[in-house]
Formats: sequence, C-alpha cells, structure tokens
Amino acid sequence: MMSSFFSDKKRENEVIAERSLSAKDFAGAAIAFARAAECSIAMADQSHGPIATCFHDDACDLLGLAEELKAKAQAHPSARKRVSTTDDLSDKPSRWGSENRPSVKFGDLKGLDEAKQIVFDAFIAPVKHPEVFKTLNITPGTGLLLYGPPRTGKTMFARAVANEIDATFMHVKLNEIKSRWVGGSEENVSSMFAEARKFSRCVLFLDEADALLRKRGNQRVSAVEQFLIESDGFSQPGNQPFILLATNRPWLLDSAVLSAGRISQYIHIGLPTAPVRQQIIEAGLKDVPVSDDVDIERIVDMTNGFAGGEIHHQKGGGL
Ligand SMILES: Nc1ncnc2c1ncn2[C@@H]1O[C@H](COP(=O)(O)OP(=O)(O)O)[C@@H](O)[C@H]1O
Ligand SMILES: [Mg+2]
Repeated sequence: MMSSFFSDKKRENEVIAERSLSAKDFAGAAIAFARAAECSIAMADQSHGPIATCFHDDACDLLGLAEELKAKAQAHPSARKRVSTTDDLSDKPSRWGSENRPSVKFGDLKGLDEAKQIVFDAFIAPVKHPEVFKTLNITPGTGLLLYGPPRTGKTMFARAVANEIDATFMHVKLNEIKSRWVGGSEENVSSMFAEARKFSRCVLFLDEADALLRKRGNQRVSAVEQFLIESDGFSQPGNQPFILLATNRPWLLDSAVLSAGRISQYIHIGLPTAPVRQQIIEAGLKDVPVSDDVDIERIVDMTNGFAGGEIHHQKGGGL
C-alpha cells in the first residue's frame, strides 16, 4: 500500500509554492517545488508500471518548474503578468502553425468506428447540414476529448475531423505553449485562441493536454483559468474554434476543463483489434512488392497489443 506520507508532504509543498508565488517569492517557490518533486520521486520508487511513470513525469515537471523559478528569481524579480484580453495580441505576427484543410480522411484511419460515429453525429453532420439540425434545435458540439495510449491515431483522427468539416487545423504541442516564465503560459493560451479565431472555421488541437490543463494544486492553475475564459464562446469576439484535446493520461486533467460544457464528448481511442491491424498492415503494404510467402495473418497475431503507429512506421516507409 502506498504511504500517504509523501503525498501529504507533496501537497503541503505545493501549497507553500503557491503561497510563495502569490507573494512573488520565486526563490521560495522554487525550493517548495523541488521538495514536492522529491516526494513524487519517492512515490515513483514505491510504485510500478504506468503509475510509477506518472509520478516520475510529475517529478520532472516539478523540477522543471523549480529550475525556471530559480532562474526567474535570479534574473527578474518583477511581477507576473496576467492576460485576460486578446486585443493586445492580435497585431503580433503568428507563432502558431496552421494547416489549411488537412488531406487525411476518416477512410485513411482504420477501425475506430464508434469514435467516428460519435464525432460525425456531434460535429460533422451539424456543421455540414446546419439547416436540418437547426429545426431539430441541435447545435454543433464545441469540443471533445480524445484519450488513449500513444500512437493509436489521436492526431490523425483530429486532422481527419478538420478535413471532414473543411476547417483549418492548428496543432499545438505542449512545448509550444508551456512557457519558461510564470504567467507566460496564460499569455500563450490567449494568443493561441486569438489566432484560431482568425479562421472562419478552425479545429484547435491541443496535444498532451494533461500537461497544460492538469488538476489545480500548483501554479498551472492560471493556464487552466485562461483556457476556461478563452473557450467560453459567449464572452469572446470572433469565431470560436472546435477544441480537440488529446491525452494519454485523462485522469490528470483539471475537472473544470471537462465540466465547463465546452468539452461535450469523451472519446476513447484504443489499441486496434485484429481485423483493424490487418487493415493497417495491408494499407502499409499497398505500394510495396510483397513476396507470396508473407503470412499476413501471422503478422496480425504478432502485432497483438501494438498501436497503429507501431505497426505502420511512416518514416521507415511501411512495415
Ligand atoms: N487506426 C489507424 N489507422 C491507420 N493508421 C494509423 C491508425 N492508428 C495509428 N496509425 C498510424 O500511426 C501514426 C501515428 O498516429 P498518431 O495519430 O500520431 O497517434 P497519437 O496521436 O495517438 O499518438 C499515424 O500517422 C498513422 O500512420
Ligand atoms: Mg499525437
């Protein structure tokens, strides 16, 4: 049984860190985050498998924060900046990459029939046939969460949604948004939404969403709050983007993000079944000369438990 000692100590230090941050005592906050990281490492040592990995990742994040705050304490003792409006950001050149209607289609994505059906009903059909859905008093969904193991096609799925509704695709990765400066993440969240609203229709895809929008309890709360402000379509001018969040660790997400009404569906993207693996393998071999003695069924058996991305290595040119 995991001792609650370290988890209590961790929480205690996170509270101290929060308090130090409010008092702009960055050195104090850095020390408290480093202590919280030590507790996470201790909990990782006491656990196994994915839980140990979670604690380990948490410790890395906390150590990263401690490092940043240490540097900040040394270099910039100035106040942290909050951003609650996007007006002042609109003239800056864009830092966010976007893709005009991606070419990948739902048909390229093998299996995941249930997930496709959910997104078709909630997003695609109401966007494509607004007149029909208006009479039924149904408006298109505004956001959804894709969760499941890595390399199972979450990114590909999000791009295919953008293709289906003829939208611009903005793929935002964690390292682009997590600022080295306290307060900078909120600014990044604001700027990202301002950019997305410039397009008449945009799918805003936030990869590794758990790292930015994780549960309250440390300073990342400010990025969560900024996300809630920005994703509230009623108080923001311009077109609201469709928000797709992806994560391998949905339990880390802040519950406010999921309960605010913006994220209306949670879709599990799981490992492919045998028939789906067969389709992925066959699609991968489509343009490759294959010897007669290649036993596809055997490969299907051998790849049990593999994600689609592990079966089909694009960089290596197929299997
Ligand atoms: N169901 C699938 N059908 C076809 N290709 C898939 C599927 N799942 C994964 N792939 C392949 O794996 C690659 C990686 O998937 P990706 O969307 O990046 O996964 P994730 O975002 O879940 O980590 C895709 O570009 C695609 O080539
Ligand atoms: Mg991905």
